[in-house]
Formats: sequence, structure tokens, C-alpha cells
Amino acid sequence: MHVDPLEKKWAVLTVSLMILSMIILGFFALEAHIRPPSNVETIDSTRLHLTEEFAEDNLGVKTAADGTVHVTMVAARYGFFPREVVVPQGVPVTIRIASADVLHGLHAPGTNFNTMVVPGYVSQLTTEFPRAGEYPVMCNEFCGLGHDYMWSRLKVVPKDEFQANG
Ligand code: CUA
Repeated sequence: MHVDPLEKKWAVLTVSLMILSMIILGFFALEAHIRPPSNVETIDSTRLHLTEEFAEDNLGVKTAADGTVHVTMVAARYGFFPREVVVPQGVPVTIRIASADVLHGLHAPGTNFNTMVVPGYVSQLTTEFPRAGEYPVMCNEFCGLGHDYMWSRLKVVPKDEFQANG
């Protein structure tokens, strides 16, 4: 079978690019630990207020008996609830957030406080905040006319100044 040399070159180039992509993907997934969240947990977004965990009174920051810090939040057009979250510096913090309506994105620039909030699922992530300070929290998925106004605040305070409710 005759294959034109030019065609052969392009075939080699294409296959090489595919292999390169696989290597890059493998590196980020296995070495740099960058992957999609693995927490596949479903929830009925229309009934969040009726659940134990995401009812209004149960949102916010809590410290468990073992000292770990848990943040429970709801994203809804157009805001994050609670409006302000205060967490300790240098301690693992687990965030669980659900959407009450459409797709939102939780994002505090300069931190790992960052996840998609897909309606019907609970998004969960655990991270540590190495630097104290105040961070803006924004929605980074277009969710409607008020998307630009969907902001809240994250405060990272030194461990000894931190007081959680519950
Ligand atoms: Cu919520 Cu954009």
C-alpha cells in the first residue's frame, strides 16, 4: 500500500500529539493530583430546605468532636448562604455545598476554595488555608441575570482567634 510521505508525516504528528496529551493528562491526574471531585452524592435541589443538613438553621461553620472544621453552604440565585464564612488558618476544612436551583461555581481567588455546584449533587472538598486574610467569594458559572452580583466573603483567621458555633 502506498502512503504519501506528506500524509505519513501528518499521521505521525497526530499520533504523537495524542500520546503527548495522554502523558500530560496522566501527569496531572496521578502526580499533580488535579482531578474532578470524586464525591458523587445526589440530593433533591428543590427540597434542600427540608433536609437536615442544608436547612437554613444548619448552614455555617462547625467544629466536630475530633477538631476538624466543616462548612455547610447553599448556593442559590443570587448568593451564597451564609453570606460570610470564617475559617481557621492552617487546619483542614471540609466544605459541603449544594445548589438550590441552577449551576453555580464557588470560587475564592488565591485559594483552593473552588468547586462547581451542580444542582442535584452535593459538592464536597477538603482544603487548608495557609494565609490569613479576607477573600472575596464569587460565582464563576453563569447562572442568570444576577450572576455578576453573586458574591460573598471568606475570612481566614489565625487558629487561636477562631471560634465556631456548635
Ligand atoms: Cu451563581 Cu453565577
